[in-house]
Amino acid sequence: MKNIKHSWAEPYKIKMVELLKMTTAPQRKKALQVAGYNTFLLKSEDVYIDLLTDSGTSAMSDRQWAGMMMGDEAYAGSRNFYHLEEVVKETYGYKYLIPTHQGRGAENILSKILIKKGDIIPGNMYFTTTRLHQELAGGKFEDIIIDEAHDPENNHPFKGNVDLEKLDKLVKKYGAKRIPYVSIATSVNMAGGQPISMKNLKDLRAYTRKHGIRIIHDMTRVAENAYFIQEREKGYDKKTIRSIVKEICSYTDGATMSAKKDALVNIGGFLAINDWDVFEEARNMVVVYEGLHTYGGLAGRDMEAMAIGIGESVSDDHIRARVGQVIYLGNKMIEYEVPIVKPIGGHGIFVDAKKFLPHVPQDQYPAQTLAAEIYLDSGVRTMERGIVSSGRKPNGENYYPKLELVRFTIPRRVYTQAHMDVIAESAGRVYERRKSIQGMKMVYEPKYLRFFQAKFEKL
Ligand code: F0G
Repeated sequence: MKNIKHSWAEPYKIKMVELLKMTTAPQRKKALQVAGYNTFLLKSEDVYIDLLTDSGTSAMSDRQWAGMMMGDEAYAGSRNFYHLEEVVKETYGYKYLIPTHQGRGAENILSKILIKKGDIIPGNMYFTTTRLHQELAGGKFEDIIIDEAHDPENNHPFKGNVDLEKLDKLVKKYGAKRIPYVSIATSVNMAGGQPISMKNLKDLRAYTRKHGIRIIHDMTRVAENAYFIQEREKGYDKKTIRSIVKEICSYTDGATMSAKKDALVNIGGFLAINDWDVFEEARNMVVVYEGLHTYGGLAGRDMEAMAIGIGESVSDDHIRARVGQVIYLGNKMIEYEVPIVKPIGGHGIFVDAKKFLPHVPQDQYPAQTLAAEIYLDSGVRTMERGIVSSGRKPNGENYYPKLELVRFTIPRRVYTQAHMDVIAESAGRVYERRKSIQGMKMVYEPKYLRFFQAKFEKL
């Protein structure tokens, strides 16, 4: 008997479809010019398969939609808030909850409360909005991720891990008093969706406890991280995703969440914290920036969809199919010899633009260029995650990140396996004509988070 494998498959079927516009090459060329070669500035109507982000782009379930109809739109004390609060406590274990309109709303409030001018915030690689809020609050981000994370070819199973020696050096140099917290992301986005191990988290907890430093968890993609722990870490293969998620959270003191990813909603986020004093201040501050503490910028129905989405996000069947689809796409790209970040991460495929376009120097934006070329080829929209996203230091100099990547981010429960084939084929075709591709220059640069609105011209 042949040993036939068990494929992953979706634990759902399709009830409604959204029709897409197919474009021609001349139409895409024009659209790209109008957008200044920035995929963020394309009209979504001109996009066939949208892999710009997995943020807010998930398909909600029938149950979530039913929950939307149960919205209690009272200004204060909405029933949906109490449901969400209960689900967050039960699923993640954090004590106190403040809803926010999305992740950066929580980052803003938390940074303002915990960071003083001159503070140092070590973290396992930066994320754009997270670091900016830390800087705006007067802090300085220091990268303490393991070196392997900066090497796209390195197959380390937990490239999201913290290098405790790097942290210890910072503690010795600045003193623990100047480090309000360590900023820890699960499924490190900018490293390619790479997980942190439970062992590393436990070690970090022991170290920070000794020095009286908090751990704040960016839990945007915690369920995907849990999947890799279940797959790769000793002692976790029999544990459920739900229990792994809760254990991860238990080693941290609080979290910011963009529920637009893991939690399967189109809008929403929260700040969760175990410390009553921080909670009290956050509950007060949220009124200034987001809305009353029982809605935080969200409609009651949004909170209900989030509460239900959180439950669905920690289901083993869901996460296996979710990450399974990403891995399917990655393996197809490898078949076409497209250079991608390895191991394949949880929320998308990250193409190594430095390797793809070795003749384009980083100042000429290889990843931005490649994202434009992919769109031109097939109408697939991807995102630059390199020098443009990295931005400038507070002193005005450019950051030059080691990783110069194009992210093919997969929305949850949205596209089919045939779509994955089309995407990989497009990357393969562009790779075949890579030598004829020239870089670009930036002709407009906004002050904050420039990647969203910058414009380029072809050289
Ligand atoms: N943290 C991480 C790890 C993220 O990926 C994001 C958003 C945020 C925080 C901010 O959350 O968008 O809800 O305000 N990432 C999106 C992305 C934008 O495309 O990766 P937000």
